[in-house]
Amino acid sequence: MAASRLRSDRLPRHVAIIMDGNGRWAERRGRSRNEGHHAGLEALRAVVRAAHELGIEVLTLYAFSSENWNRPRSEVDELMRLLVHYLRTEVDEVHRNGIRIRMIGRSDRLPEEARRLAEAAVDRTRDNREMTLCFAVSYGGRQEIVDAARALLRAAEHGEIDPERLDEKTFAGSLYAPDLPDPDLLIRTGAELRVSNFLLWQIAYTELYATDVMWPDFRKGHLVEALLDYQRRERRFGLTGAQVRSGAAERG
Ligand code: IPE
Ligand code: IPE
Ligand code: MG
Repeated sequence: MAASRLRSDRLPRHVAIIMDGNGRWAERRGRSRNEGHHAGLEALRAVVRAAHELGIEVLTLYAFSSENWNRPRSEVDELMRLLVHYLRTEVDEVHRNGIRIRMIGRSDRLPEEARRLAEAAVDRTRDNREMTLCFAVSYGGRQEIVDAARALLRAAEHGEIDPERLDEKTFAGSLYAPDLPDPDLLIRTGAELRVSNFLLWQIAYTELYATDVMWPDFRKGHLVEALLDYQRRERRFGLTGAQVRSGAAERG
């Protein structure tokens, strides 16, 4: 299998995925969009398992954006039901596999049951160290930045931070999951080439990978393809290729 071609010393620590294409996948088969979301859940299960097997440290999945609240009520309700279903049926296995669940986004907008189950899942899996599985639900990148700015303004108001000393590190420390590393690789399924308000701050130097595969069809093999592509890249972070290859950055 292609997985054997992966170099374990060059794996991305953090992979983020925009799971797009459920609706089109279903429509092409003459099925309802909601059926597409159900099929998408199967892909989600498979990809969580695969990421864990491959040794990914953090997997962040974009499940529901702040803009997705504007979809038809029946679709929003179904997505919330699916979230509840996932949290009810999958957390046991996730926990058994030593995976820690995290949530980013404005959870105050979630239905009570989803919020309660999400909190319980985060709590129960808190000490797991095998992998971190972070769900972006009711998540918007701009909202996250605004929420961070608000927290910092409050802290300044209380004299807890000096505005003059605000730097990138302090700012990033006020984001939703400041302890997680920035994504190394961002995968978008479903053929679109856009970021759709996902992790705007964190993807400053993330490698981007887009595929025409619709999310319900995405499996381990596709993930491995994305990882192989990532391993062929040279991440330069603003330096020249020669600097990177000579390790100049580390030596300063
Ligand atoms: C992604 O699939 C799932 C969510 C956004 C919740 P879409 O529902 O956006 O599917 P398309 O893009 O319409 O095909
Ligand atoms: C992005 O997909 C959000 C999720 C996958 C949860 P969308 O389908 O909402 O993105 P746009 O509207 O095509 O940009
Ligand atoms: Mg979409």
